[in-house]
Amino acid sequence: MDISKLVERLAEAGQSHVLQFWDQLNPEEQAEMRVDLESMNFMEINNFFKSAMKTSGQSSQEKVDSRMEPVPREVLGSVTRDHESLKKWEEEGLRCISENKVAVLLLAGGQGTRLGVSYPKGMYDVGLPSHKTLFQIQAERIQRLEQLAEKQHTRKCCIPWYIMTSGRTMDMTKDFFMQHNYFGLKEENVFFFQQGMLPAVDFNGKVILEGKGKLAMAPDGNGGLYRALGTQNIVKNMETRGISYIHVYCVDNILVKVADPAFIGFCTLKGADCGAKVVEKTNPTEAVGVVCKVDGRYQVVEYSEITLATAEKRSTDGRLMFNAGNIANHFFTLTFLKDIVRTHEPQLQHHVAQKKIPYVNTQGQLIKPDKPNGIKMEKFVFDIFQFAKKFVVYEVLREDEFSPLKNADSQDGKDNPTTARHALMSLHHRWILNAGGHFVDENGTRIPAIPRHGPAGTVTPEVSQNLKDGTDLPIKCEISPLVSYGGEGLEHLVNGQAFQPTLVIDEKGAHELVKNGL
Ligand code: UD1
Repeated sequence: MDISKLVERLAEAGQSHVLQFWDQLNPEEQAEMRVDLESMNFMEINNFFKSAMKTSGQSSQEKVDSRMEPVPREVLGSVTRDHESLKKWEEEGLRCISENKVAVLLLAGGQGTRLGVSYPKGMYDVGLPSHKTLFQIQAERIQRLEQLAEKQHTRKCCIPWYIMTSGRTMDMTKDFFMQHNYFGLKEENVFFFQQGMLPAVDFNGKVILEGKGKLAMAPDGNGGLYRALGTQNIVKNMETRGISYIHVYCVDNILVKVADPAFIGFCTLKGADCGAKVVEKTNPTEAVGVVCKVDGRYQVVEYSEITLATAEKRSTDGRLMFNAGNIANHFFTLTFLKDIVRTHEPQLQHHVAQKKIPYVNTQGQLIKPDKPNGIKMEKFVFDIFQFAKKFVVYEVLREDEFSPLKNADSQDGKDNPTTARHALMSLHHRWILNAGGHFVDENGTRIPAIPRHGPAGTVTPEVSQNLKDGTDLPIKCEISPLVSYGGEGLEHLVNGQAFQPTLVIDEKGAHELVKNGL
């Protein structure tokens, strides 16, 4: 096998070491490695490394910190402060949906390292009574929203779902959707596409080998979206379908309001080309980025890149100065996205994450380092905010819209399957109360409306004790998204009625699982 061309290219890029075990590989391994290497542009990777290193590091973080300004009031909309406008925004969003102008785009290329599962996060079952996965919950919210828009405007409509996967998640994601008949959606309205991968490199920019014939590869960050939108013809596809507005979101938020009509209506009525949904950040060390202005341009300063001193700064009212917590729900017009893909994508910088990356040493042994030995380079989805002509921010309530699944249950009691399950059931409990229903215990005594669990996203010692005792708070109830998208349409099912948990409301009606012996 003549590999002289490849050898030459690697030498030019200073990456010849990746072939150090070539002679020990069997022909199949050699063929596989060759395909991998030939598809890579090592000069480009070297350039990514150089510019990423230039913009990372403590001193440049401090420099960004000193130039940060909070989001000004005039670009901010709020579900609480602007209550009187909500209906108008929602109606406008539903109108756009009914005209087939809205698409949703799911970022699902991450590896779920913190959660510690070997399959895509969207396939995770947080232990709801129905055992629905995150993918199923999102698919059903899309269907319900289509129905609501159809009802309001008496015309059939469709919200296409674009799902970005990576080399690590594509096959499993596609198979899962196929096995579950696309959760009731039409196959032709669900599009899978794949983001790029980049090799991890050491602190000198040398590509790391995780096997004798295998580079340590990782997805190129959720900002890999913009390159993928172009290379995989997704923008063209959206154009052909007549899409004007896109809601981009992350896979792990169990409360995500997919294609939220109020958010879409707010952004379109403000004439925005780009928007971000936020919740108030109240804890300086919470792992959320903050939306802000730097040198007069909008951006998110990520939790890994802000200094503690800045994260802890407070305004005169006692709130955190940088409190626009990014919940990774973004609005883009297609015109804006096209501009990004065609013009600005190459200007987006990679961010640097120092990681412990398993590698083979010169003797060919696999070593698992106990401290960071290299970096992964990632682009971030929100780095295009800086190019917006009109940027808006939409503030929502954490308990209604944000409970991300990041960690396994055994970890620090935050953002894990238990907190996600609790957040959803607590929301559904409130929907039932608002629709005139209530809960009673096994003796028929009314259960107080405010359950004893901690703030969303945390497991208090009390809840943790209850978990050990098997008393899983809050009240167990679950409403199928096929029945209600945001708490609507429940009165005829619950008004004036008392229910004993566990209550499940689905297309067939309201069922008490205990009474029915389920
Ligand atoms: C992300 C946000 C952070 C926000 C937080 C809220 C980014 C860069 N950061 O942080 O500002 O406060 O969510 O929960 O958006 N993904 C890909 N490809 C990749 C890497 C990730 O598609 O290469 C997807 C993941 O599947 C996931 C999403 O991007 O759906 C967010 O990834 P994750 O690594 O969980 O982001 P956080 O660090 O939690």
